[in-house]
Amino acid sequence: MKSILAHLKILPLKTMLEALTYDDVLLVPQYSDIRSRSDIDITTDMGNGLQLHLPIFASPMDTISNERMAQTMSMEGGSAIIHRYNSPRAQADIVEESLQLGATNVGFAVGVTGDFIMRTEKCLDAGGNFVCVDVAHGHHVMMREVLASLRREFGADLHIMAGNVATLDGVNALADWGANSVRCNIGGGSICSTRVQTGHGMPGLQTIFDCSKTSRDVTIIADGGIRNSGDIVKALAAGADAVMLGSLLAGTKETPGEIIMDSDGTRYKMYRGMASKEAQMDWRGRYSSFEGVSARVPYRGSVRYVLEDLEKGIRSGLSYSGARSIRELQARARWVQQTSAGTGESRTHITTRNW
Ligand code: XMP
Repeated sequence: MKSILAHLKILPLKTMLEALTYDDVLLVPQYSDIRSRSDIDITTDMGNGLQLHLPIFASPMDTISNERMAQTMSMEGGSAIIHRYNSPRAQADIVEESLQLGATNVGFAVGVTGDFIMRTEKCLDAGGNFVCVDVAHGHHVMMREVLASLRREFGADLHIMAGNVATLDGVNALADWGANSVRCNIGGGSICSTRVQTGHGMPGLQTIFDCSKTSRDVTIIADGGIRNSGDIVKALAAGADAVMLGSLLAGTKETPGEIIMDSDGTRYKMYRGMASKEAQMDWRGRYSSFEGVSARVPYRGSVRYVLEDLEKGIRSGLSYSGARSIRELQARARWVQQTSAGTGESRTHITTRNW
């Protein structure tokens, strides 16, 4: 008997926390005295010299961010991060081309092995504005080493974005190691299979609720799983300073890659996870654990119109909470959790009605 009790005592206490994501919640509409949506300011200060008029980053993926995406993102007030799936020279050329085309706030991605110092040097020489240390699991010893090297080599004034992490501990660690902004969410993106392959992750909106509790001087980017302007408003209200998008920008004219035409004339473009088999084979000639997929998405014309619609939705969202700025939205936000019936009611449902 004694030995059984002793055994029970050393069993770890398993606490299961409830974690919510975008469709689980709604923001409660509140009194508003905002007469025009143009009175709403959606600029965001990402810290250490990086400011956006539209709180949106285009993800550093090889089917999303090149010079054309950087140009249009910048024109609309956001920012694109040039992907790192090429040679340092080719990446620096894309950065340079973006700045000729008139882009500002051009970021560039680096990994945590090999050539990250050389890439940073070349992309900064080409006029790049900030670096993004881009790895799947950012709360990692190699991230600490890379952030220390980047700070040592390039000084305090360089804006360093880093990620991805899924917890407050992760954000705090990356901030303590030198990051100015942190990409938050693991495995929540539309093309991700990390949660399926590894069993790890955290629902996307909960990640933002948790990560934004940081006491550090760092800004939060809600990255992945965002499907519409309503999700963007929820992410900002939960504490994000900006969002990062892949699928919402995919299939547009500005993304890298050819238009694919079906036999019936329907047009598509490819969008793929950077840890998909296809992307790994293209860039490394082999694949290890694959944690993403590749998909055909409908061609949607210029990203400009997508961004303009998102901006209108974000402004409208702030006005429903009576908020004139992102900070005010965060202070005023009131939330309700909805049932699955509520989630169904929240979607447009005329087409699925049984008449
Ligand atoms: P959305 O939902 O906007 O997500 O399409 C884009 C984000 O997904 C992340 N990403 C990946 N995550 N496997 C993953 O688990 C992958 O292959 C992969 N590729 C991209 C990344 O954070 C991106 O911004």
